[in-house]
Amino acid sequence: MFEKELKQIESQIAAFLAAQGIEAPEFKWQPVPFHGEWGMGISLFAAAAAEVRRKGLSTPIPQRAQELALALKDLLGHPAGFQRVEALNGYLNLYFSTAEYARRVIESVLEQGEHFGRGAPKGERVMVEYAQPNTHHSFHIGHYRNAILGEVLARLLEFAGFETLRASYPGDIGLGVITVLWIYDKFYRGQEPEGIHERGQWLLKLYVEATALLEPKENETPEERARREAYEAERREMYRRWDAGDPYVRELWLKTRQWSLEELRDILRILDIHIDVWFYESEVDEPAKQIVQELIALGIAEDERPQGGPVIVRIDEKLGLKKEKYRTAVILRSDGTTLYLTKDLALAKEKFEKYGVDRSIYVVDVRQSLHFQQVFKILELWGFKQAEKCYHLGYGFVSLPEGAMSARRGRVVLFKDVYDEAVSRVLDTIAEKNPQLPIERRQEVAEAIGLGALAYAMLSVDNNKDIVFNMEEALSFEGHTGPYLQNAHVRATSILRKAFNLETLQGHSLVSLLPAATFDYSLTAHEIELVNLLSRFPNVVQQAAQEYRPLVMANYAWELANAFHSFYHAVPVLQAEEESLRRARLRLVAATRQVLANALRLLDIRAPEVM
Ligand code: ARG
Repeated sequence: MFEKELKQIESQIAAFLAAQGIEAPEFKWQPVPFHGEWGMGISLFAAAAAEVRRKGLSTPIPQRAQELALALKDLLGHPAGFQRVEALNGYLNLYFSTAEYARRVIESVLEQGEHFGRGAPKGERVMVEYAQPNTHHSFHIGHYRNAILGEVLARLLEFAGFETLRASYPGDIGLGVITVLWIYDKFYRGQEPEGIHERGQWLLKLYVEATALLEPKENETPEERARREAYEAERREMYRRWDAGDPYVRELWLKTRQWSLEELRDILRILDIHIDVWFYESEVDEPAKQIVQELIALGIAEDERPQGGPVIVRIDEKLGLKKEKYRTAVILRSDGTTLYLTKDLALAKEKFEKYGVDRSIYVVDVRQSLHFQQVFKILELWGFKQAEKCYHLGYGFVSLPEGAMSARRGRVVLFKDVYDEAVSRVLDTIAEKNPQLPIERRQEVAEAIGLGALAYAMLSVDNNKDIVFNMEEALSFEGHTGPYLQNAHVRATSILRKAFNLETLQGHSLVSLLPAATFDYSLTAHEIELVNLLSRFPNVVQQAAQEYRPLVMANYAWELANAFHSFYHAVPVLQAEEESLRRARLRLVAATRQVLANALRLLDIRAPEVM
């Protein structure tokens, strides 16, 4: 924001150092830790060290650095745009004039609008894989945590400057899927419930019912046992026919798979998630078999089939590790079938080769962490340089206060149920607290707030930690909640609407409405805090993206909302004592609203005008 001024000062420093016969090192301005005033500083240690070495001085380097800093301070005097210059512990620090700093920060936010905080293109393509539940099962609240984490990570990476591809990889084959096909074919052939969600959820009910029939019971009678074994044989036969490509079974499979995928797509629509590439587990099975051959030929895998064993990769041994870390992975069973791991090798290859991915992120349950370490190490052994830029973003369980979920028992909390419940509770709150809101707008607002509450409840917890989801808390307007953040945006909007006498800000350009202003009055601590947070936003974007941590942005958004709520209660805007203050504060409110909106968008939370 002060690039021009800083460049100018840099050249003064370089000239000074050159005159002293010191080779000018590369300058790296660093923000001075914020204590109520903003500044940038540079270290003179490198210059001092170069000089001491070159001239063979006996002065200790820290002392010489401080001498240089003092000399430069004298030389610079009072540069324009700056409040003061300081030489401290070998650093030269320049403090910006507060008024000028505030003006520039607010200016850039308002000018850049929704693009404020966007990073320059990094020239790197990243793929984020998420929203990849198994089919023939229903979308539960754990899948929701996965979807929202992945989507927010994708938004952060994209905004930070990566070319970003969103991918899904539903598990559409396996014993669970076959179990559902078996029971459907045996007892429910031809049936099809109405409604996308009802139909998808029904498959989960079938799965639970089938599991109960196929599991050995205590004190089983001989008849029960015989019946169970017969069912088991039928299921095995179903799998064999699927494998052999039996047209009847394949058609049944595709039809029911479609029911699940339609349910999934509708949920992604609700969540405003747009997947670019769909991979399916069933489609990488054949390529996976080829890869096993290739890895054997390369000497990476060992074929123990002649001895009746599987094909394995002794990962630790191949990496030359003495201690057990990645262990030995089976990549082909002795009966010639592939494993989850084998398919992940084929999938990764396709991501790298067909989609040109440089960096590959997998958002998957934390319990699969060993699995992904093995995948990444085998990719490395195989020679893919992208392996070091593969990352597994693991996340913990989601449960309800009443207990954990169990799909086998049918004890799952479906996302759709939680969502419907959240929306209906928000509708009740609106009816009670904001009855002026026209009926026809309530549904839309309730969906925005309900979803915001759910999203923030997931995003505000470190991904490694388990979540006990509490609806009551999530929907509260106080504390670390989505509605608390959204309400800051609503309040900022309402101030601006009143200021310009508008029904809505939509379709209006705030930049042209806002009067010009200066900030050369004594800013309150609340205003300084807001300006400081606004100026930090671009760095927060980079940090969250680089660390793959949506939580960094979730925390920032809360801090900004919290600072705005405090400002709102303490500092008059429309009622400000003077017109010049009113103008300045209106610009500050508009800039804060903009950054709140940008942060919320990255968190996949809608920023409503009213609530
Ligand atoms: N479908 C799998 C599951 O529900 C997740 C897939 C994770 N992605 C991967 N590349 N293995 O557990």
